[in-house]
This record gives sequence, structure tokens and C-alpha cells, in this order.
Amino acid sequence: MAKIKTAFICQNCGTSHLKWQGQCTGCNAWGTLVEEIVSGATAKNSSPIALNTQSKPLPLTEIEATTESRIPTKDEEFNRVLGGGIVDGSVVLIGGEPGIGKSTLLLQLALQLGDKKILYVSGEESQNQVKLRASRLPFDNDQLFVASETNLEKVFNYFKEIQPEIVVIDSIQTVYTEALESAPGSVSQVRESASKLIRLAKDTHVPIFLVGHITKEGSLAGPKVLEHMVDAVLSFEGDRHNQYRIIRTNKNRFGATSELGIYHMTGQGLREVSNPSEIFLSGREEQFSGVAVGATLEGLRPLLIETQALVSNMAYGTAQRSSTGFDLRRLNMILAVLEKRCGFKMGIKDIFLNITGGLSVADPAMDLAIVVALVSSLHDVAVSPKAVFASEVGLAGELRPISRLEQRISEAEKLGFEEIFVYQKQLDGLEKNYSTIKLIGAQKLDEVFRNTFT
Ligand code: TYD
Ligand code: MG
Repeated sequence: MAKIKTAFICQNCGTSHLKWQGQCTGCNAWGTLVEEIVSGATAKNSSPIALNTQSKPLPLTEIEATTESRIPTKDEEFNRVLGGGIVDGSVVLIGGEPGIGKSTLLLQLALQLGDKKILYVSGEESQNQVKLRASRLPFDNDQLFVASETNLEKVFNYFKEIQPEIVVIDSIQTVYTEALESAPGSVSQVRESASKLIRLAKDTHVPIFLVGHITKEGSLAGPKVLEHMVDAVLSFEGDRHNQYRIIRTNKNRFGATSELGIYHMTGQGLREVSNPSEIFLSGREEQFSGVAVGATLEGLRPLLIETQALVSNMAYGTAQRSSTGFDLRRLNMILAVLEKRCGFKMGIKDIFLNITGGLSVADPAMDLAIVVALVSSLHDVAVSPKAVFASEVGLAGELRPISRLEQRISEAEKLGFEEIFVYQKQLDGLEKNYSTIKLIGAQKLDEVFRNTFT
């Protein structure tokens, strides 16, 4: 094998350096040097992805449309986020905070696929630790091979030996290739190791799962290009103090993004939650002020979520604004609308907003529920626990149309809610008749308040 030569290349201007240094001599940027292979056996193959296809251009009409073949897993939530199962030869990156359950999820998935040969490489735990974890899970797979290894070349040897049908690498930050001298977890190691694994997946059509750590800021550790290289990026989220876990699709070359799977972390691993709305509603009997239920969409699934607001007199010189699970800027906009259009004195109040269940929502249809929760807390008047609010709120204090209204209404009806507040004009377009839920249309916020707080 020819000797591999590496150099430190500035990611900003491309200047090559023999040694690592803090500042690039070419463009004076700091911290942009990354070790790269410049010659030798692997250099010519180290373009991020070498697709195993012929490259001759063909007219689009002559290209055969073969649909990708998929391995369905036993886990419906996971199938959903992948767009219907694991695609052959795909590389999926799963990111999440430490301790959230990435290893548990993948081990559980591997155990559930009892008829498939799987290679599970852990760079973080010994075989014994993996065994202990597996024994807590209620599944069994005698075709699951566990290796505790960080050397990528050895992983490739195991791959040849075992010929698995699925590979799991836990985590990409712990493996390293001998071709580079940088430490495991460094940008160049992560990128080079990932590109080797991606090439392996594309050449052998074996799907590979990569676990990725995330940084303190919440983005995936390692180079951003990692996310471009892989076929799908999933993020595993949730509050460690809360037993619910949410897996989200951030990128998927083989399916829709913004899909969502929900799990419940139990003593025997992760359990699927098939009716997620139930967990975001507290099922309260008592009525509290400052609580309102909104209907949001996550992917294509309607979800009913409780929003809680606390509006109190300003404690210090400046009013506090705090929001968990909802964009603070949008909250400020809503507060400005309430102040200017409806005459509520929000400027002199401390305001706290919380979306329950640890979920963060960006759906404008949640606006109305947030408005109602705020006003309910301001006046200390409870909202009926049987009411749902689903509308965007515009700057003039008007209600605005939202997407997939029928689905949201159906979900609310299914869960036993008795009334739903929506934008009046959108009601005219509805085709279905609802028998047990009352649809209340309104054009302006005032009308909603009149119907809610009486
Ligand atoms: P883990 O999968 O190790 O997280 P990550 O790989 O993302 O760092 O998650 C470990 C946590 O999950 C740990 O706090 C224990 C908990 N856990 C359960 O509650 N039940 C279980 O059955 C298992 C295996 C783990
Ligand atoms: Mg882990």
C-alpha cells in the first residue's frame, strides 16, 4: 500500500499547511485547518460519496424507475420517520443528547429484527455492557453480533467476516481510521470515517446507522458536511426528566421530512406511543386559568397539545418574557397584537409560556391557543377543558386559515373534545359533517374571547 500523505487544508480558502496551526496563513481565519488525505491509496476514493452507478448521461425518459427496496422494522414509529422502513444501502445518522436513548433505540431495533443478521459496533461500551442493556429489553435476536471496537479497519474486517444485513455504528465520533493521524472525534476523522462507511453502504447495499453526538449548542458534533453526506438525519429529542422521547426526521432522501415518532422510555426499553395526543394532554379534571389546548400538526399527524401561560405583575424593572417550546419572537408578536388590537396591558406583565410534554412547536395554528391561554391567565378565568383552538392570528388581531383543518377537527373529536374554535371563512369549505364536536367560527379575536370567557 502506498504511503498515505496528509496535509492540513484551510476549509475557508484551501491553503495547504504541513502542520496544524491555529490561524491559516492564506486568509488569516482562525481554527479552519482540517487534516485531509492528499495522496496515497485512499486519496482518490475519498470524495465524500462514490456512487456505484454508471455515469453515462441518459435521457430522463429512458431511465428506469426502480423504487428502492425497504426492510420494514417491527417498530411503526421508526418506519414512519424513515418513510416506510430501512432503505437498502442507505446511511442514517441519528443525533441526540447523551443519555437520551440513542443506543437503546438502535439496540432495541436490532433485537426486534430477529430474522436479520446485524453487526452492532459500539465504540463506547464493552460487549458486556451491551449484553446487560440487551437483557433489559424484551426482545431476542441470535443473529445480532456485537463488537466493541473503534478501529474502522477492524470494523471492515468484521463486516467481511460476518456479512451482516444491517450495520450500526455507535458512535461515529468514537471510530477512527488509521489513514489519518488526528484523534477520534476530530472533524477530519469523523468526515473520513463517515465517507468510508457511506462508500461501504453504497457498494454492498447494506444499510448503516450512525449514532452522532451533539454539541452543547444542540447541533450534531463534527463537520456539517456529515449531514450532507448521509441519506437521512434523525434527531432524538426529549427531556431526560420526562419519559417521553421524540424522534424527528430532519433530512430524508427517501421520504418526507418533519415526520415524527413518539416513544415512552420504560424500564424495558422504549415503547411506541401510538396515540400521542393523549400524552400531551394532562387529562385534568380541575380547571385552571392560563391553560388552553391547541391543535398542531407534526409531519402529517395532528397532535393536540396543552399550552400554559402565566401572566403576573412585573416583579422587577423590566418585564420578563420566557417561552419553552415556542418561538419567543412569535410570542412577542402575539403580545403586541393583544396590546394594540385588543387593549390588554401586556407591557407591564411578566409572561411565561410553556408547551407541555417537552415538545417544541412552530405551527402558526397554535397562535390562537396561546392567545387564549395568555388572556385566561391575565384575567384568571379558566377555559373549558373541552375546547380546542386552531387558528393562526394575524397582526390585525384577525384569525387566519390553517392547513389540514379537517384532520385537526377529527383528532379533537376522536379525543372527546366538544368544541373547536377556527377561522370562520374556513368552515365554509368543509365537506365533512361532525356530529359530536361543535365548530365555532370567528373572524376576530374579540369574538373568540366573547365565546370563551363568559
Ligand atoms: P442510552 O441509550 O445509553 O443513551 P445514549 O446512547 O443516547 O447516550 O440511554 C440510557 C438511558 O436510558 C439511561 O439513563 C437508562 C435509560 N434506560 C431505561 O430507562 N430503560 C431501559 O430499558 C434502558 C436500556 C435504558
Ligand atoms: Mg449511547
